[in-house]
Amino acid sequence: MSETPLRKPRILSGIQPTGTFTLGNYVGAVRNWGALQQEYECLYMVADLHALTVRQEAAALRRQTREAAAMLLAAGIDPGRSILFVQSHVPAHAQLAWVLSCNTQFGELSRMTQFKDKSAKHADNVNAGLFTYPALMAADILVYNADLVPVGVDQKQHLELTRNVAQRFNNLYSPTFTVPEPYIGKTGAKIMSLQEPEKKMSKSDTNANSFILMTDDADTILRKCKRAVTDSEGVVRAADDKPGVTNLMSIYGVLTGKSFGAIEAEFAGQGYGAFKEAVAASIIDAFAPIQAEYARILADKAYLDGVLSQGAARAAGLAQRTLTKVYKKVGLLQL
Ligand code: TYM
Repeated sequence: MSETPLRKPRILSGIQPTGTFTLGNYVGAVRNWGALQQEYECLYMVADLHALTVRQEAAALRRQTREAAAMLLAAGIDPGRSILFVQSHVPAHAQLAWVLSCNTQFGELSRMTQFKDKSAKHADNVNAGLFTYPALMAADILVYNADLVPVGVDQKQHLELTRNVAQRFNNLYSPTFTVPEPYIGKTGAKIMSLQEPEKKMSKSDTNANSFILMTDDADTILRKCKRAVTDSEGVVRAADDKPGVTNLMSIYGVLTGKSFGAIEAEFAGQGYGAFKEAVAASIIDAFAPIQAEYARILADKAYLDGVLSQGAARAAGLAQRTLTKVYKKVGLLQL
């Protein structure tokens, strides 16, 4: 009797190369990616096709795609253990996305809050890709039969749509896709803007003081933390009516491993000045080794491109198997 080898559960996640990653990307997503490599078989991708839903400058997009891959490696993704690749290098994503978009309803896509937000923000370019984006994201995940998808809270709705599309396809055509689960951290899954703490921290914000970039130097990080909007109470405690302080506490908590209770005790009787300096120090400490690695990897283009081409070849092998099955099930002629 032959034993079936136990396959580790599989993870897929992605990030858009639309600019330098923010502290929000790091705390909400990228930080977890490295840690998950022990227990899971991981695929991580730079989602360049998704970036096209908003106008990009071609040379900048190419540069940012390499920078994004270098940052992921610097942040702990080990190409010996995980598959790191660029989305457009694996054609099966776009191919499956077409089939899935024919199995996704207009009404479902219309309910996506990201589509509503982005079409309001880019009113001059409400293109079809922006609308069908979640079908491509579903393809990214389903083409690998991923079990788990580590993301920040803002991607939860897209994950739910992916699950619905997978279930519908399985019911209609026979079991094909693994129905994926979201993996969303308990704290830090939504880091807020430092200037408007009711809004998500976003790299596309026009106010540079609202976000911290993973490439910001120590002085910039300290300055942005000091300018972070808080409140007039002067007490470090987490509460719904204290979104600025609560956000800084989440950042500090995730990066130091301290609970809200421990943070409140640490800063009892002190004003926000000392607290903000401690928050800045925790970010600087977390980013310093990553920044050094990032500079080193980015300078070695041959290594970086080698990792990406190997990653694309491995990913394409896995993706093609699913695509072939799907094409067959939906009735596309194969010779
Ligand atoms: P993107 O590029 O906007 O963000 C990458 C990851 O960072 C998380 N994130 C945040 N987490 C906490 N606080 C914040 N302020 C914050 N801002 C961003 C996001 O939730 C995300 O996990 N559509 C995706 C990319 C993608 C993808 C996929 C993800 C394409 N295909 C398949 C998972 C699976 C996106 O635009 O992420």
